[in-house]
Amino acid sequence: MEKREQLYTGKAKTVYATDEPDHLILHFRNDTSAFDGEKVAQLDRKGRVNNRFNAFIMERLAEAGIPTHFERLLGDEEALVKRLEMLPVECVVRNYAAGSLCRRLGVEEGLALEPPVFEFFLKNDALHDPMINESHIRTFRWATDDEVVEMKDLSLRINGILTRLFADAGLLLVDFKLEFGRFHGRLLLGDEFSPDGCRLWDAETRTRLDKDRFRQGLGGVVEAYEEVARRLGIPLD
Ligand code: TMP
Ligand code: ASP
Repeated sequence: MEKREQLYTGKAKTVYATDEPDHLILHFRNDTSAFDGEKVAQLDRKGRVNNRFNAFIMERLAEAGIPTHFERLLGDEEALVKRLEMLPVECVVRNYAAGSLCRRLGVEEGLALEPPVFEFFLKNDALHDPMINESHIRTFRWATDDEVVEMKDLSLRINGILTRLFADAGLLLVDFKLEFGRFHGRLLLGDEFSPDGCRLWDAETRTRLDKDRFRQGLGGVVEAYEEVARRLGIPLD
């Protein structure tokens, strides 16, 4: 397997083609962004910790029967994945109120959400990733009705698996974002799962150990990601 041309540069990852049409290489960079790319920084070791973190989570999900694009780690900052046709929607699951839910609905941060909340957002930075519903997805053909059902079902199953995994490490999985894509007629989990795209709080102190540290200028961003990795037993060297 050989690395070929750069296909796409996102805010935190670069995607490369390979000599195999069904495979891509994801390069996790040290770049960090928030507020739809308005706030950016370079954080030492972030690419490496997110690459390892993502590999660990994708492998745990695959073991639990979730279909994902992840194939294998290639190096400190790179992974081999299946090439998906990504759907332009983001799936968010929330177990505790935080972030945009608090702003939109005026609920108190930290409120336990039972059952968990599921939301769709349109993946579009220029429009600030607006919240959308199933009717928008159907009318604008962003996904089929079956894919909508499957994205919700998989997202909630993933929530069950990961809530337990993080709880065993003394962490609350507050919320997270997933992206799915098509691969030869099947829907697979794509993109990444890392502290860049979820909220994780210490279960006792509720200390933030995720990208809110960057959004809120709290410092110790990569140190927090490494602390989560350490608690999960993810090797970082
Ligand atoms: P929100 O509170 O800003 O709506 O975000 C909910 C969760 O989803 C939070 O863990 C961050 C994550 N998320 C992203 O990583 N990227 C996005 O574009 C969106 C909308 C959410
Ligand atoms: N990931 C998005 C961005 O880079 C949203 C966020 O995390 O705040 O702007």
